[in-house]
Amino acid sequence: MENSNKFLFFKGVPLLSHIHDVEHIQRMQDEFEFQDEDVIVMTYPKSGTHWMIHILSLIYSKGDPTWVKSVPYWERCPWIEIKTNMENVKNKANSHLFTSHLPAHLFPKSYFTSKAKILYVARNPKDILVSALHFRNHFPIFPSYSTFEHFFEDFLQGNVPFGSWFDHIKGWLPMRHSENFLLLTYEELHQNLKVTVEKVCQFLGKELSEEEINSVMENASFQVMKNHILENKELVPAEDMKSLKIVLMRKGICGDWKNHFTVTQMETFNKQYQEKMKGMDQNLFPWD
Ligand code: A3P
Repeated sequence: MENSNKFLFFKGVPLLSHIHDVEHIQRMQDEFEFQDEDVIVMTYPKSGTHWMIHILSLIYSKGDPTWVKSVPYWERCPWIEIKTNMENVKNKANSHLFTSHLPAHLFPKSYFTSKAKILYVARNPKDILVSALHFRNHFPIFPSYSTFEHFFEDFLQGNVPFGSWFDHIKGWLPMRHSENFLLLTYEELHQNLKVTVEKVCQFLGKELSEEEINSVMENASFQVMKNHILENKELVPAEDMKSLKIVLMRKGICGDWKNHFTVTQMETFNKQYQEKMKGMDQNLFPWD
């Protein structure tokens, strides 16, 4: 395993030692009480988390971009597993939006008996792999990977932050039949953003006018987000801002894996996918 020195293992899942705190995560799991009006953006990293945070924020502000431009995303939708993010929540009476990458078995238990809603965004894991390697190699807190092959192996073995993609999705997928869980894909956001935004509104019981929906779409487009995702310059040092923009808003396309995988890697990946996803409804994700 390359570059594992930044990991902290919690119940077998690799987390990030510089931002995660085992005691906090355990406390959240046992004690955090979700309210019925809470909404959580849930993803495996690099699946379109920030895109969905943006869409959700814009739906809540009825398409008005003022909120997304003036308040950083980690304050609008704090990460449950990050202690410093959650400390802010205590001071805000009206915080109902959250984000998380936690696998189901580490998530706060109260969710499973509450009416709080999860928006789960899944993405083609081959594209996640490419996006995640880029993130690792361009974000200063991580040492870079020496080769694509090394990261390819670590990804397939789950030696990456939040562990195996296969375990993450298999842990959460059974929830898709619950009323308070909406399964979405990065690919459907691409294919028809309007239909997906309307689906999210319906799930959340939010009624937006045609004009407001159009504004959500416009302000959640790749180019607009790239320009203002970190608008709040006082909060983010210039250097971090530069690298964050590079890693969070890279290409924003489907199928980029084809530019990176060799034929052998594609075959190895497909074989593992078939083995690990056996028994899962193969029609759920029409990924290539
Ligand atoms: P790429 O690296 O493939 O470009 P996350 O937010 O979970 O870290 O995911 C990041 C990925 O989502 C990046 O993928 C990024 O470009 C993509 N993304 C973010 N906003 C997007 C948008 N508005 N439209 C399309 N893709 C977007």
